[in-house]
Amino acid sequence: MTTTQNAIGPSEALGTLFTPSGKRNPYPLYEALRELGPVVKLGPKLVFAQGHDACTDALREPGLLVTDASVHSKTGMLEHSSWQCFTKIMMFSNGTDHDRLRTFSRWAYNPQSITGLRSTIEDKATGLAQRLTAWAGDPVDLVEEFSSRLTLAVTGELYGIPLSDQLMLRSAIANTTTAFEPVFDLSELADGDAGMDVLVDYMAGLADSRRREPRDDVATRMVHEADATGTVTSDELVAGLVMFLIAGVQSPSDLIAGTIRMALLKPAEWQAADAEAFVTEVLRFDAPSQVLTRVAGCDVVLAGVPVAEGARVMLLLAAANRDPSRYDEPDVFRPHRSPNRPLSFGFGMHYCLGAQLARMQAEIGLTTLAHHFPHMTLEDEPRYRDQLVQRGLARLPVRLRPR
Ligand code: HEM
Repeated sequence: MTTTQNAIGPSEALGTLFTPSGKRNPYPLYEALRELGPVVKLGPKLVFAQGHDACTDALREPGLLVTDASVHSKTGMLEHSSWQCFTKIMMFSNGTDHDRLRTFSRWAYNPQSITGLRSTIEDKATGLAQRLTAWAGDPVDLVEEFSSRLTLAVTGELYGIPLSDQLMLRSAIANTTTAFEPVFDLSELADGDAGMDVLVDYMAGLADSRRREPRDDVATRMVHEADATGTVTSDELVAGLVMFLIAGVQSPSDLIAGTIRMALLKPAEWQAADAEAFVTEVLRFDAPSQVLTRVAGCDVVLAGVPVAEGARVMLLLAAANRDPSRYDEPDVFRPHRSPNRPLSFGFGMHYCLGAQLARMQAEIGLTTLAHHFPHMTLEDEPRYRDQLVQRGLARLPVRLRPR
């Protein structure tokens, strides 16, 4: 274990991590934790992993499970609509349930399906950029007017959700992601529950409507497969539709906004980079999904540290992405690092199903905006939402200057 003059104890760093100031800028705290080794044990039942190799090992360790219904039934969270729904999706299922749910819907996000969406994304991004010319010379918030609208439009196209409904669902989608934060008091789930109630109601209605009047969209095919094969229950079908709405909109919107912010802060790096390398470095430098949680299904050893059955393991992906044993000068934003394989989409059997779609939206979003507004500038300091697990900008105020 090494220490530096600035090192703070793990309890202090962790105590600060989930406060508003820690969430605003968690990176010095990750660094402080890293000084204490790749894995830190805070008592017998709580472990934090922040090393790149330790997080990678944890994600492929079969003894470390996602927090499924059996875990949440002991915490009281299953009484809450947010977690009633989340525990019916693949992301929070283990074993055969996970395999069954992933097999049921993975076709919708396979490489051919996603590649086929390129021109749709380009059209939507161009339409939104043209719409933004109405703000030329005035400040505009690109989270409100570009990144969230782009991901809503793409997911809306896949599932046949009209624009007016997309905008009506936007805050409910954002609210559900607050339920991913560590909960110290179950009342903190109120916003997540309220958002989830709206989304479950909407997607249950959408499923019924596609059952009655089939269309050429992903929702119709999922409803048909569920009814024809019986491999998922009707609750799991609705939960799956809700998940694809949340995952399809919020994290990609956070990535797009974060990518535009970095292009404005680092114009020389953006000019010199290709969009793919630039987005990869944004994913490493400031990941939208900063923390994953696992629970030990049996005794395991992580980076030499024994982890007892039942212990919670918090995987600090964003810290792992800045591990100096993996990346030279990890706090420097430098596209075209080699290798540059951040853990921001996870790793192993729960690897993100939408990684390719999210990357494509960020690459196209940035290049389209830069093409229409090459002299765009940051208007104000962008503000992050008060969340760490699902990190993203609340606002991205810019001033647009058309070419
Ligand atoms: C920048 C955007 C995104 C980020 C940062 C992100 C991040 C992640 C991460 C870290 C995981 C692993 C969860 C775990 O191991 O516990 C994951 C899983 C998943 N993601 Fe994404 N995601 C993004 C976009 C998307 C999109 C666009 C979709 C689809 C519409 C999607 C669907 C999923 C699904 C279904 C899983 C669960 C896979 C499984 O459990 O087998 N994600 N995502």
